[in-house]
Amino acid sequence: MTEERSDLHHILLARNKEWSEQMLRENPAMFTELAKHQTPFFLWIGCSDSRVPPNQITGTVPGDMFIHRNIANMVVHTDMNMLSVLDFGVNVLNIDHIIICGHYGCGGVKAAMGPEFDGAAANWVREIRDVSRIHHDELAAITDDQARYDRLVELNVAEQAYDLSRTSVLRDAWASGRKMQVHGWVYGLHNGLIKDLGVTRTEYGDEAGAVPLR
Ligand code: CO
Repeated sequence: MTEERSDLHHILLARNKEWSEQMLRENPAMFTELAKHQTPFFLWIGCSDSRVPPNQITGTVPGDMFIHRNIANMVVHTDMNMLSVLDFGVNVLNIDHIIICGHYGCGGVKAAMGPEFDGAAANWVREIRDVSRIHHDELAAITDDQARYDRLVELNVAEQAYDLSRTSVLRDAWASGRKMQVHGWVYGLHNGLIKDLGVTRTEYGDEAGAVPLR
């Protein structure tokens, strides 16, 4: 993008027109079909990072994915935005596959590894400090800073997959016999490849580690 910054938004509108025309040339019925309904197969929960556009990196097109993004791909149980997307995706759109996709080089995770800072995002990434605390022993044993940062990115995705598996929406879906799957992936900014962390959740998460009343 080489235009003056104050005019940048015009580029988007011009490119949208080109894109729309190109799509119509390739598939004249595309928009009329898409306008009727949406039947996506995947719910994507990813980072807001501009370098991780879900459709592009998965080769998917409009209509394929229901998408929720926030800083550091977090699943926060009091986040009505996330819960609404999850409820709609699972119970109205009937999506069975949910993907939590983090990425190496995530600024949100990095911020949570550094000193305390000001601003709203500090509160948001606060929960990643908890992930770091839960996995203190493993992380503390990694002496290389980059490797520890990469590992926290992975552990954060795994914890968000766990947190998602503990939502009432998924508990009810599994209880009703739905074959829900929550996948944990990490995207590499450096090579454009997605790594499946192998932390897929297929049942309501247990409370291992918690100490209940007896
Ligand atoms: Co990020």
